[in-house]
Amino acid sequence: MVVFDEVARGGHEQIIYGYDDASGLRAIIAIHSTALGPALGGTRFFPYDTEQDALVDVLRLARGMTYKAAAAGLDLGGGKAVIIGDPATDKTERLLRAYGRIVDSLGGRYITAEDVGTTTTDVDIIRRETRWALGSSPAEGGAGDPSPVTSRGLFAAARAVADFIWGDTDLAGRRFAVQGVGKVGAAFVQLLVEARAEVIVADSKEEAVKEAVENYGVKSVDVEDIHTVDCDFYSPCALGGGLNDSTIPGLNCQAIVGSANNQLATEDDADRIAARGIVYGPDFVVNAGGLINVHDELHGYSKMRAMHRVDSIFDATRAILLASKEQQINPNQAAVMVAEKRIEEIGDLRRFRRSGEDPR
Ligand SMILES: NC(=O)c1ccc[n+]([C@@H]2O[C@H](COP(=O)([O-])OP(=O)(O)OC[C@H]3O[C@@H](n4cnc5c(N)ncnc54)[C@H](O)[C@@H]3O)[C@@H](O)[C@H]2O)c1
Repeated sequence: MVVFDEVARGGHEQIIYGYDDASGLRAIIAIHSTALGPALGGTRFFPYDTEQDALVDVLRLARGMTYKAAAAGLDLGGGKAVIIGDPATDKTERLLRAYGRIVDSLGGRYITAEDVGTTTTDVDIIRRETRWALGSSPAEGGAGDPSPVTSRGLFAAARAVADFIWGDTDLAGRRFAVQGVGKVGAAFVQLLVEARAEVIVADSKEEAVKEAVENYGVKSVDVEDIHTVDCDFYSPCALGGGLNDSTIPGLNCQAIVGSANNQLATEDDADRIAARGIVYGPDFVVNAGGLINVHDELHGYSKMRAMHRVDSIFDATRAILLASKEQQINPNQAAVMVAEKRIEEIGDLRRFRRSGEDPR
């Protein structure tokens, strides 16, 4: 793989490789865009089979963050980092702090947070070396685990979709099939049950299903069947790529709203979903709650302000669905359009240099 070719294809600004012999740290940070602000995105700790797999993943994820931040109307660019290794066995204080020093060397061009394989506690450790890490624990003055906030954003998005389809935001009596009841999925199920929606869940971990059934009184089906459940909303809250040419024909829902990143296996899948008359809430719009929440720490975390902004996912989702209807494009294309327009319009402001800015 030729790295520069790959970067040129995705339009990334910078790739940083970080290594620490003593701890075995092997990290790649990808900065996709700083047009709207510092590149914010979490650190994924994952046992990639090859260095190439890690690079492909970090480039893809960093680009996604640019669109997520722009569509949410934040003054943030997009970036992401991966640490190659097994978080269960390879994660040490030395490694996380060595990584924190590499993040610090970028002087705020890249700001990190938690992601798959990293936790709020890890962010606390990284923060011992850099202030450019968000989502630390509440005891350290941070916003804590973003998952409940992400589920709050999903709930707002589902209400907007219900309004768009049925002219009624109320989710009472609506039927949801939730794939994956981990941190976000379980919190989402709780909100749905509180709103008197009917919920069916599936998870590849038996324990997670058991907990959801016991805690919330919901029903469950096998993981292979969850996307075919007859329902109003299908909610992918597990891994990406679940909406593809083999699963889309089996969908039996009116709408899709879920937290998983990169739900569409290919961009054509958004057309396949639309052709089936199903309304798709673009993943990077509906799952932005966690990002909006950690972003608030940059201004001194205010829960009230963060929740207010997360609830505006209702308006963002509604605007995108209306644009897609008006312009006869699928919702994913409409969301990309909104994000690109913001990057162009607001990013362009920086051409106007303010007095006192570094003249170089
Ligand atoms: N945590 C956040 O705030 C946040 C924010 C934005 C996006 N996301 C995305 O949302 C998704 C869920 O995040 P999370 O933090 O809840 O992760 P998690 O690991 O806590 O939960 C994922 C759950 O999905 C289950 N699962 C995996 N494969 C499955 C399959 N094929 N069928 C059914 N269940 C399966 C897992 O067993 C696990 O219980 C991820 O894709 C994540 O990237 C999370």
